[in-house]
Amino acid sequence: MSEAILLVGGQGTRLRPLTDSTPKPLLPLAGVACTTHQLLKAKAAGVTRVVLATSYLAEVFEAQYGAGEELGLELVYAVEREPLGTGGAIANAGQFLKGDGPILIFNGDVISNHSLEEQYRVHESSGAVATLHLTPVEDARAYGCVPVDDSGRVKAFLEKMDNPVTNLINAGCYIFDRSIIDVIPLNAVISVEREIFPELVKQHVQGYVSDDYWIDLGTPEAFTKASADLITGRAYSPALGSLNMEYLANAAEIATSARITGGTFLDEGVIVDESAYVHQSVILADSRVGSNAHVENSFVGRGVKIGSGIKLVNVAVGDGVEIHEGTTVSEGARLSA
Ligand code: GDD
Ligand code: MG
Repeated sequence: MSEAILLVGGQGTRLRPLTDSTPKPLLPLAGVACTTHQLLKAKAAGVTRVVLATSYLAEVFEAQYGAGEELGLELVYAVEREPLGTGGAIANAGQFLKGDGPILIFNGDVISNHSLEEQYRVHESSGAVATLHLTPVEDARAYGCVPVDDSGRVKAFLEKMDNPVTNLINAGCYIFDRSIIDVIPLNAVISVEREIFPELVKQHVQGYVSDDYWIDLGTPEAFTKASADLITGRAYSPALGSLNMEYLANAAEIATSARITGGTFLDEGVIVDESAYVHQSVILADSRVGSNAHVENSFVGRGVKIGSGIKLVNVAVGDGVEIHEGTTVSEGARLSA
């Protein structure tokens, strides 16, 4: 399994305003873009060449990673002028593959600690045309629901159903035989989840079930949680090694009376004033947290000014926003400049 396709063309609608100028996969987790965490995980499992299936803000990926020299991977870009959906994206990216071997395909907004090597072994030994990483969740409604039989063979694929038949879901990481990529029509909008998997299960699709750390980064809250989990060591990434820290700060200026906890990430040039409290949050470059402010489970963009005494809980703040002292910000708010 030396080649991979990474699906990174989605709009990240639920993450606005954070995704207005940065594609969701490039938002930082513990200071490192989600895409970098994923590419290095694939590399550690033996992948040497990755086709990035891009669409929304496609140019930003190429500007950041180029041909992949810095990561020690060969990267190529398959750009969809109009988003083709997850299935159309796989077909389009398939044209850029070199080899005939099994292909690793993964959603670009997931941090997972499952073993790609184990998943590959299951693929090899089962003889399936596709092997899906599956993980149990409490509420399966927002995901692809995937019932399996006793041997782990996938019985059905039910994308986002109201009454899930199982709590086992599609974790967004697949191994496909090359033959099933080549038959997806080109230049058509197709969903792998809604159109391809329900057909493929009539052949042989295998499930690889694991309950290792897994998170989908669909919301700002999920981003702050994943970032904090990497910093405190609840989650692992080869991009960071094993951390076990209360917070991670890149050249930030923190008043001695401020309290930073819960795996918070503070980027370069961040200033935290006296008696401020920042818990399980992400604060990007050059932002300032005023004195006595309370910032909890929140994702704060670049160059943001949070006034004295401001309380933010589960809030996403876009780049450049100023929140003046005395403002009340409701829980879960999304603020943009
Ligand atoms: N290139 C390209 N083109 N990529 C796309 C497109 C497209 O048109 N649409 C979505 N993607 C990418 C997104 O960037 C993301 O990385 C991935 O495909 C999945 O899209 P999401 O929009 O995040 O889907 P989801 O989270 O609602 O559901 C998917 O992921 C769940 C697990 O996290 C599905 O695969 C579910 O079945 C799954 O359970
Ligand atoms: Mg997602």
